[in-house]
Amino acid sequence: MTSIAIMNSKGGVGKSTLTMAIAETLAEHHGKSSLIIDSDGQMSVSLMMTPGRLLAERAESNLSLVNYFVQKVLEDKEVDWPQFVCREVSDVEEIGGMFLIQGDMDLPLLEREIAIANKFTHMRTAARELLTAAKQYVDVVLVDCAPGISVMTETWLRECDQHLIPVKPDFLAISGLEYLRRFRSRNPEMGFANQLGIVINMMEPTAPEDRAMAAHLREDEALHCFDAAVPMASIIQRASLFSQESRSYLAKYAGAPGQAVRAVTHELLERIKAKPEIGSGTHETSPIAHPTPAPSPPSPPPVPNA
Ligand SMILES: Nc1ncnc2c1ncn2[C@@H]1O[C@H](COP(=O)(O)OP(=O)(O)O)[C@@H](O)[C@H]1O
Ligand SMILES: [Mg+2]
Repeated sequence: MTSIAIMNSKGGVGKSTLTMAIAETLAEHHGKSSLIIDSDGQMSVSLMMTPGRLLAERAESNLSLVNYFVQKVLEDKEVDWPQFVCREVSDVEEIGGMFLIQGDMDLPLLEREIAIANKFTHMRTAARELLTAAKQYVDVVLVDCAPGISVMTETWLRECDQHLIPVKPDFLAISGLEYLRRFRSRNPEMGFANQLGIVINMMEPTAPEDRAMAAHLREDEALHCFDAAVPMASIIQRASLFSQESRSYLAKYAGAPGQAVRAVTHELLERIKAKPEIGSGTHETSPIAHPTPAPSPPSPPPVPNA
């Protein structure tokens, strides 16, 4: 049981797409459950994995990630977190163990209110409590972060156990990594998620520039670059469009791009196993697997971040 912030200060590198693909592969191939937290005002991963009608209904009922933080941090209320979890997630047929806390376009407004109320510490506590509680019921919590380093993204980077960085093999990818490295070195006493590594996405395998850039990224041991890279492929682009008709996992992730997604997920699991936070378990009494929430479990001991 671990939590992973999927982040890159750059947008459009495939954070949301890989979050979805990894979660679906964990479920389909490894029998591992996941909770996806959509922490981007663009709501990309929510839209990729859930019918828009359902997202709209739940937004109407104030059941987004922003509503969780508003109630918990700004209104100082006791919050029953499982109610924010959507269970009808993914267009892959007969897939189970996938959960989502949906995003909200008002995320920047929430961050503004938190800043005005000077409640950063409360925000971190609320995020930590959510992650700690969720980790008892799913194998992996995946937080799909917004680009840039906003207050919310910083919160996840400091509170998650690990972080994973999808990159495109181009020059901007490298400058984004340097930006994150410098950010990480500030206030080390505040904690920071372990680096699981970088995953090269949107790789054109036959393009010499992409191959040269990938080789350059792999040479830098500090980046812990994954061996597998996900190619630029229309099948992956199509995977990111929610299908009203359910589709088989193998149709969604067909061919070499699908193999690359499975190789990345396999490597991710190997890397997680090498870290102390991971475990596995059955989650039969999960309050998020059943419509009626079970009583809150006792809090487990805090997990060190670094
Ligand atoms: N490997 C890939 N091949 C082709 N298109 C991709 C690939 N990965 C992501 N995309 C597409 O690129 C766009 C941006 O991806 P997204 O996951 O939203 O990026 P981010 O979350 O980093 O902003 C989406 O349209 C997605 O379908
Ligand atoms: Mg995204």
